[in-house]
Amino acid sequence: MTKSLVTGGAGFIGSHLVETCLAHGHEVIVLDNLSTGKKENLPAGQTGLQFVEGDITDRQILHQIAGAHPDIDYVFHLAALVSVPQAMAEPARAHAVNFDGTLLLMETFRGSALKKFIFASSSAVYGDTKTVPVPETAATQPVSTYGADKLMAEHYLRIYNDAFNLPFVACRFFNVFGERQDPSSPYSGVISIFFDRALACRNGEREPLVIYGDGQQTRDFIYVGDVANALVFLAESGAVRGTVFNLGYGKQTTVAELARKIMKLVGVDCDVEFQEPRAGDIRYSAADISQLHTTQFAFAYSLDQGLQLLWRCLKGM
Ligand SMILES: NC(=O)c1ccc[n+]([C@@H]2O[C@H](COP(=O)([O-])OP(=O)(O)OC[C@H]3O[C@@H](n4cnc5c(N)ncnc54)[C@H](O)[C@@H]3O)[C@@H](O)[C@H]2O)c1
Repeated sequence: MTKSLVTGGAGFIGSHLVETCLAHGHEVIVLDNLSTGKKENLPAGQTGLQFVEGDITDRQILHQIAGAHPDIDYVFHLAALVSVPQAMAEPARAHAVNFDGTLLLMETFRGSALKKFIFASSSAVYGDTKTVPVPETAATQPVSTYGADKLMAEHYLRIYNDAFNLPFVACRFFNVFGERQDPSSPYSGVISIFFDRALACRNGEREPLVIYGDGQQTRDFIYVGDVANALVFLAESGAVRGTVFNLGYGKQTTVAELARKIMKLVGVDCDVEFQEPRAGDIRYSAADISQLHTTQFAFAYSLDQGLQLLWRCLKGM
């Protein structure tokens, strides 16, 4: 039986990935310190799923897991301090998790029979690039400590791949959205925040939906189900190794258009307030996904389908 370790598996993307791994017949071990993740995100009472509460920076826990499970096939590494503002406010703390934690994990599986180490990287490695859509070969100039740590981890993965035979794949996620994304943080995905506002508006609250800037900034939004599918596909593809992939739909949507789509789905016409652009926000962002197209991977959803699935879930709550 295929065995997978998912770090950050109790988080937003990680919990979807766990479901996809289980659906592919994997036995799954989740390692999560529940700092932003929740145990309730994981399917309850599921056979083949083991939850370990612990920190990726804890060498002892990593060795315990690797020792108890010498037959782990895939490590999906998603645990991270994900807030960019927090990573800027506390760079050393963020580095200890996002880089040192990743390195410890690589080191734990060096020399093991691991088939692949799959790393959740980020479009933040590009910084404020003027190349849109941006290919993986574009210059990487992260403007945040978060992006710099993701990039440094990619470099180490390549070295471990070439020098120590630890096969890896890194996926640079663009703007991921879907069920279980937490709207309560001001830095959470704009889609969950817009749905939150639109729902409040439907319930009679008069708070406006806030757009920072003129709303013409673009993002490449990708539904979480496709991210989870891609990660498992790239893990299981024997031919794919030592490669970095952009993971988005390769399409740009303006934030204003997104707000309109969400208000239409919810059936409201809220007041929209345009505020000063947020410091450090980039203007245009989209992935060039030619590299992903060289594989046989096919998306199962689209932005509109993902929005509908999310809306269906929020309506049922
Ligand atoms: N959401 C996005 O649009 C996006 C974009 C680019 C990259 N990513 C990357 O995808 C991954 C998952 O992000 P997410 O959006 O699901 O965020 P999330 O906060 O929901 O998930 C992160 C998970 O990691 C856990 N965690 C954090 N620090 C840990 C530690 N030291 N030890 C063990 N567990 C720890 C948290 O409890 C949480 O369950 C992250 O690596 C993030 O950098 C996400």
